[in-house]
Amino acid sequence: MDINQFFRIRLSTLRPEKITSFDIYVYIDGRMVLYRKAGEALQLQKIETLHSKDTGSSFFVKITDRDIYRAWVKEEINSTEIPNNEKAAILRESSIAIMEDLFENPDVNKALDESKPIISDFINFMDSAPESVGYLLSLSGHDFYTYNHSLDVSIYSLGLGKILGFGPKEMEELGIGCLFHDIGKRNVALEILCKKGPLDDAEWEQMKRHPQYGLIILNQNPNISDGVKAACFEHHESWAGNGYPQQITGPEIHPYARIVAICDTYDAMTTQRSYNKPMTPHEALTMMRDKLSGRYDPDMLKAMHSVLFKIQSAAS
Ligand SMILES: [Fe+2]
Ligand SMILES: [Fe+2]
Repeated sequence: MDINQFFRIRLSTLRPEKITSFDIYVYIDGRMVLYRKAGEALQLQKIETLHSKDTGSSFFVKITDRDIYRAWVKEEINSTEIPNNEKAAILRESSIAIMEDLFENPDVNKALDESKPIISDFINFMDSAPESVGYLLSLSGHDFYTYNHSLDVSIYSLGLGKILGFGPKEMEELGIGCLFHDIGKRNVALEILCKKGPLDDAEWEQMKRHPQYGLIILNQNPNISDGVKAACFEHHESWAGNGYPQQITGPEIHPYARIVAICDTYDAMTTQRSYNKPMTPHEALTMMRDKLSGRYDPDMLKAMHSVLFKIQSAAS
């Protein structure tokens, strides 16, 4: 069986003794091997042994079972037996698994349509368990891949959107816009995206085109709203007018894009990457306020401090 017919799952989304409604596979020597059949519960000891081997890349579910996996996660999120903080972790981990699959999928329209339920799950969770929003936010920032980064920017942005009093429609658009803000990086050469050292001028020019590439991709889908497109196209604009690609200023920049700009930088600064030491949330926001302040909407940056406060109270 071809690996392309599978998506990865995180074992941390599985609870012991809970019967799974999908088959779980492992990838051994270039082959998919059935590990657990649907209808069997995993025993605690088994999960623990598996966890120790789980590098986030070894366990798989068939793409044809993705809806079953999602329904199963939904059931877990709605269960009254699981504490909210544990639900927050399940929600994030399961969404990363789905994001990985969507981001690898060449059919962007399908990815866009299928990402909507992910955002609704987060919005519903934030509404139903407001006391766990801080915890959910505190889970972000441990690893840096485009899909994790995009998901984490969405989670931070939804936290910020809530504080700014956004309604349900705006929250949904903001969340989708964040998930796809860097979609244009698909058209940037991999050597540039993965380059360890600084980019030369020509490479930087190509990198800076990702908002345009993103807009072209999003324009292919008739269901994408202007707000979602703006979140992608304008997320590297700067409040002072020295951003790119259009160099628009202040309120000319769409509010969603202003939020992405803040959460994007915040996530990049606080996340562990191979070549830098992450800043603490407080250090990152202080730097954004003192050294980079001209770039961001000042009111939104202030509101980001409330998000930080939630993250810190969840961590303490
Ligand atoms: Fe970007
Ligand atoms: Fe980004």
